[in-house]
Amino acid sequence: MTAPVAAARARQLPKLADPDAPLLEVENLVTHFSLGSETVHAVDGVSFRLNAGEALGIAGESGCGKTTTALSLVRILPANAKIVGGSIRLHGIELATKSDDALMNALDPVRRIRDQIAEPIVVRLGVPEREARRRAGALLERVGIPERRGSAYPHELSGGMRQRAMIAMALACDPAILIGDEPTTALDVMVQAQILVLLEELRRELGLSLILITHDLSVIAETCDRVLIMYAGRVAEEGPVRAVFGNPRHPYTRALLSAFPSIEADRRTLEVIPGAPPDLRNPPPGCRFAPRCPFVMDVCRTVVPPETSTPDGVRVACHLYPTAEEPA
Ligand SMILES: Nc1ncnc2c1ncn2[C@@H]1O[C@H](COP(=O)(O)OP(=O)(O)OP(=O)(O)O)[C@@H](O)[C@H]1O
Ligand SMILES: [Mg+2]
Repeated sequence: MTAPVAAARARQLPKLADPDAPLLEVENLVTHFSLGSETVHAVDGVSFRLNAGEALGIAGESGCGKTTTALSLVRILPANAKIVGGSIRLHGIELATKSDDALMNALDPVRRIRDQIAEPIVVRLGVPEREARRRAGALLERVGIPERRGSAYPHELSGGMRQRAMIAMALACDPAILIGDEPTTALDVMVQAQILVLLEELRRELGLSLILITHDLSVIAETCDRVLIMYAGRVAEEGPVRAVFGNPRHPYTRALLSAFPSIEADRRTLEVIPGAPPDLRNPPPGCRFAPRCPFVMDVCRTVVPPETSTPDGVRVACHLYPTAEEPA
């Protein structure tokens, strides 16, 4: 897994957590990159929910903002990226707007970071102190902080390193969500299957929720409860896997599914999606899929399609569905 990350369970923050809130609620997330004098609109108004124990797959062509969405959730974005809008709530606790200072408050400023990571391993998992410190060191390495830096105090670390230390802490104490960004992409099919089994086991045994980013729609079909199809920084369609894959509404979802090889299909009959995703430094003003859409109408070129909900629990952002019905 290239980027397994986790968010701390809200029971660590009992005074703040709302027990009735969904596990994770992302609303209108906007994350941009600065590129010289230009802005890359990488994630532009993405919303979704994740309930406890649920697995959500995220798919979409290369460059559509999947990784940027995931990195925004855990706040380990590159230096030229910024969350400029929206909210990310974990058990109702707002994470998107927390400043670095607020994050630093969550690390005790007068204790060395390795001690802080080891503490919950001792207290909550009952692991002996020596072993807990060893595990804390391994967690630090895992999140990209050299183990020897574990003796540092939070103020001695850069903002980015402090966030990494926070993630190591979250991993130490029983994460609620595991995010895999293309966890199986570079693996042969047997190892791929082993990893998927492992994820499934973790999910079942630890009650973890899963966000699985992949180009492999069959992995999503096998592993996930819900699927979110992204296109050019926005949600094209989202809903239960069976509903979205069984009856894709958005022309982009249909195109993506037609372009995906199945074991029965003759590869020569696969349909490629003509054209390429837009340059996110200067995306088209209406529906971002309009320039490639076989069903394009005038309105699509100027008006951003609002999301509508279908009776089977799918959200779709397309002008073909003004009243949440099938196209006329
Ligand atoms: N560090 C960066 N600086 C500027 N632009 C970036 C940076 N990282 C990503 N982008 C741009 O942000 C957009 C979204 O990229 P992102 O990596 O989130 O896509 P993705 O869906 O994960 O793609 P892939 O399937 O190839 O992994 C793309 O247009 C990409 O070029
Ligand atoms: Mg990516």
